[in-house]
Amino acid sequence: MTNYTSLDLQGPVGKPLVRVSGREKVTGTATFTAEWPIENMLHVVAVPSTIPHGTVREIDSRDAEKMSGVRLIITPENVPKFTRVQSGSETNFATTVASSLFPAAEKEVFHAGQYMAAVVAESFTAARDAALQVKSKYKTKPHVTDIDQAQADERPEKLMGAPAVITIGDAEQALQESEVMVDHEYPLIGNHHNPIEMHAAIAHWTTQNNKPFLTVYETSQSLSAAQTSYAKVFGIDPKQVRVICKYVGGAFGSKGLMWPHALLACFAAKLTDQPCKCVVTRSQLYGGTGHRTPIRQRVAIGANKDGKIHSIIHDGYASTAIKDTYSEAFTMVTRMMYHTDHLRLDQKQCRLHSQMPTFMRAPAETPGMFALESAIDELAQELNIDPIELRRRNEPEKDIHSGKPFSSRLLMQCLDAGAKRFGWNDRDRAPRSQSEGNWLIGQGVAAATYPFFTFPTKVRVTVHADGRVRIDCCSQEIGTGTRTAQSQLLADMLDVPASRVSMELGDTVLPKGGISGGSATTASVGGAIRDAVEKLKSRLMGLAPSDSALSGVKVDEVRFANGTLVSPKGSVAIEDLLSDAMKESVSVMGELKASKDSSFSKHSFGATFVEVAVDEELGLVRMRRMLGCYSCGTILNAKTGRSQFIGGMIMGIGHALQEATHWDHRLGRITNDNLAEYHIPVNADIPEIDIMWIDTADYDASPIGAKGIGEISITGVAAAVANAVHHATGKRIRSLPITPEKVM
Ligand code: MOS
Repeated sequence: MTNYTSLDLQGPVGKPLVRVSGREKVTGTATFTAEWPIENMLHVVAVPSTIPHGTVREIDSRDAEKMSGVRLIITPENVPKFTRVQSGSETNFATTVASSLFPAAEKEVFHAGQYMAAVVAESFTAARDAALQVKSKYKTKPHVTDIDQAQADERPEKLMGAPAVITIGDAEQALQESEVMVDHEYPLIGNHHNPIEMHAAIAHWTTQNNKPFLTVYETSQSLSAAQTSYAKVFGIDPKQVRVICKYVGGAFGSKGLMWPHALLACFAAKLTDQPCKCVVTRSQLYGGTGHRTPIRQRVAIGANKDGKIHSIIHDGYASTAIKDTYSEAFTMVTRMMYHTDHLRLDQKQCRLHSQMPTFMRAPAETPGMFALESAIDELAQELNIDPIELRRRNEPEKDIHSGKPFSSRLLMQCLDAGAKRFGWNDRDRAPRSQSEGNWLIGQGVAAATYPFFTFPTKVRVTVHADGRVRIDCCSQEIGTGTRTAQSQLLADMLDVPASRVSMELGDTVLPKGGISGGSATTASVGGAIRDAVEKLKSRLMGLAPSDSALSGVKVDEVRFANGTLVSPKGSVAIEDLLSDAMKESVSVMGELKASKDSSFSKHSFGATFVEVAVDEELGLVRMRRMLGCYSCGTILNAKTGRSQFIGGMIMGIGHALQEATHWDHRLGRITNDNLAEYHIPVNADIPEIDIMWIDTADYDASPIGAKGIGEISITGVAAAVANAVHHATGKRIRSLPITPEKVM
């Protein structure tokens, strides 16, 4: 057992405190990566390949070089020396180098948008104008960008640590023998993350202690790993690298790895010996910084007439790049969602001439749950059983794949509580039974889930004599309010007001943090803080004089209370301990180590309810209302927590109804590489969103009882919307996004 003892969190934890970064952002004092006012800085603009596959014959930069303000064109001829570090997704993220195709360093082209060269100039506009004048000549080769034209004959080595094929019993035979079955394909188009803050990096080479020293301001979800990665690429010690990012203006997974623009900034800075900035343009993002892969998937479910599931099959394939492998684990949710006697999960992949796909908000669960939760709804329809009741009849006693008990699984509680508040049972279950004028009205439900992860994290906690407390950790602020939530947690454990605690993050001079991804930051940083609090107690007790109420008592007998340490013998103010020891402050390090194998299967659960109005003549789907009910352990901050849940649901609406990366497969290029044609929801698309949660600490999963909340709320939305569209119209739409031509 690796479960943790409960914490007695009665103070600031859970309160809806306003995030400190909120004020900083709205008053303009927050500095985002591209905004650092660095003197003497040059600008880098990449020259992307216009073809998807081929060999460079010539990069003609003569005209560009003559243009005003232009300093340098980087090509494979003059690119500085670097080590070809393998892509992170093939090394279990030992590095975060995204692609093994290095910028301005390759003679071979493997996707349109690959950075073949770059211009360094005195202004962004000069660099951009010159970049348009760099003319590349290619010998083209055949390309495949269409997932339906690709050979999907390769199996990923592993999917989220599990094999790509999982079988229990004989699922195909059990399916054929089932009294009722559904068996359908759920194809998904690819998506692109479109953070408002563009990907950017500013690099500067200096000398420290007679050694080269690289400083990079980079918009990143993963600074500590970036530090190691730069060190590997440039053959220097990680101590000779500093990476800084104080705010991230949206990422959703797209800033987890180090994409080529960041290395371009480093190359340019090395060649010019000046700070160099590279900001990816919106259009370059589409070939430059990863995407959610298109997927072809099938889900088949066989059940008895009473709704008991006997067999589930979930198979299909996703795409990856030609030279690098990222395997989207879309079948993985199906190994733990429902009881079944027979199961077969089988994933393959194909290789396309595209940039590397990457994680995008709940990478495995978002596409996987769309298929599985649509299929469950279809089965409920076949059986004429309420879809919530159908899920109840198939609740597993334990994780059917690992055989482990769930650390907590409140799926049915979420469905039931959500159904009650949403008024689920008031609806007429028959499709096409509700309308208002031209609008057909429908309600849909889907489950949500997300696994629990932590990443190794170190923190330093410092207590000052004047009562201020500080947390230092190289975690990231990706918009979620990390500094506020973690300050609340520490304040609670120390029993001091949250206003006394502050947190510094976003700089590799701070203790090493993990990636702000996998919804893992809260528990990872929080777990390290918990460890630090224990060490702080011992450390402060060690300062106590021998006649103190703290001497001769065990650490376990002492607790923090209102700025004091309380033992059975009495209490001592922390301030007095520090002043008696003539110290202005005391610092301790806390650590959360890599998680070991656990005796529990750890996941969060939730329920998503939506109501849509559909105009069949115009093909319109309008969201009318949404409700999400989640069970993610302790919620550290009710306001930022609610906000994250809402954010995930909004992104889910985009996934369900709007987001789509379109290709012209003849040219092998993306056609809607801009925010005008790549549709994401705007305010008018978003209905009233009601968020609720079951706040039950899960200490069998998490050292602080809190699981992650960043990703779960997107995972049920697309299926809930498709299920609601079916309820409204009687029409089942099995591919995303649900655009007018599919509805009409
Ligand atoms: Mo998230 S896709 O784990 O950044």
